[in-house]
Amino acid sequence: MASAPLEHMAIAPYYWFDGTIAPRKAVTVDPLAHGLHYGSGVFEGIRAYATPRGPAIFRLRDHMVRFQRSADVYGIKIAWDVDEMCAAVVETLVRIELESAYIRPLAFFGEKTFSLSARFVSPTHVLVAYRAMGDYFGAGQEAGIAVTLSPWRKFSSKALPSTAKAAGHYANSVLAMQDAVGRGFDEAIMLNDRGDVAEGTGENIFVVKDGALRTNDRSSDILHGITRASVIELARDRGLSVEVDHLSLDELHDADEVFFTGTAAEVTPLRCLDAHVYPAVKPISTMLRAAYLAAVSGTDPRHGDWVTFAREQTTAHA
Ligand SMILES: Cc1ncc(COP(=O)(O)O)c(C=O)c1O
Repeated sequence: MASAPLEHMAIAPYYWFDGTIAPRKAVTVDPLAHGLHYGSGVFEGIRAYATPRGPAIFRLRDHMVRFQRSADVYGIKIAWDVDEMCAAVVETLVRIELESAYIRPLAFFGEKTFSLSARFVSPTHVLVAYRAMGDYFGAGQEAGIAVTLSPWRKFSSKALPSTAKAAGHYANSVLAMQDAVGRGFDEAIMLNDRGDVAEGTGENIFVVKDGALRTNDRSSDILHGITRASVIELARDRGLSVEVDHLSLDELHDADEVFFTGTAAEVTPLRCLDAHVYPAVKPISTMLRAAYLAAVSGTDPRHGDWVTFAREQTTAHA
């Protein structure tokens, strides 16, 4: 098992809340906030990486577009448009002076009602919180993590739209992750209600066989990961074939390599899936992990537009 995931998170002194940068301790939420009771909120997870040019935020606008789309699904009205939210993230990150960060935008229904049609009554609050975050699965994750097939199924998109990153959807992931960690694993893979592979609790999945990649899409009840989309491009840049189709459990067992992608997980290979152990040498996962880490720090010339150098943005607009 990789060690001490998330233990090293430091919390930033300032957050952005409802339009202003405020000391973290001054940000308060009513205990009757609808989002707290029903999970009626949407969120994003974004990373900023330390670079010689200051913190580089990875695919900020793409995250904010997904944030807005998730909010639209639930009728959560965010009073700031995508560009304004990007500017808020940048301005606050510069203010808190973290060189790297995990950035957590969250929009949720506030106080006023317990009615389940809150969109017609409740105010919306919007938060952007910041923490430091190292390797999501702890030291040694690049060598591979221990994964179990979850007894919990991924929810069907006929019940909840998997492409919306909504707070309440994560009850499913909490059950699966707690079961996995309780049994000594680092992560879980959930099948969907048809028995195909869906995803990890916070990651998409790629399979490598004979030098070619396969991953699934929204028809398998996944979140369309921004890391997944990036890795598909990075793989194709390098001449690798990437097929997007359903993934079966047999393919996971038959694969040469399997890896997760996600903002927190980055590109993390599996060491084992329950009793099935993958080869220790993982050339394609290792290559794509390196390619991804180059891209997030702005050193891949083909994808310079994926990163926002926060300090340069604020000086440009000063
Ligand atoms: C359920 C789920 N799937 C996939 C992902 C990967 O998405 P991304 O690469 O945009 O972080 C995440 C993380 O946000 C997630 O929570």
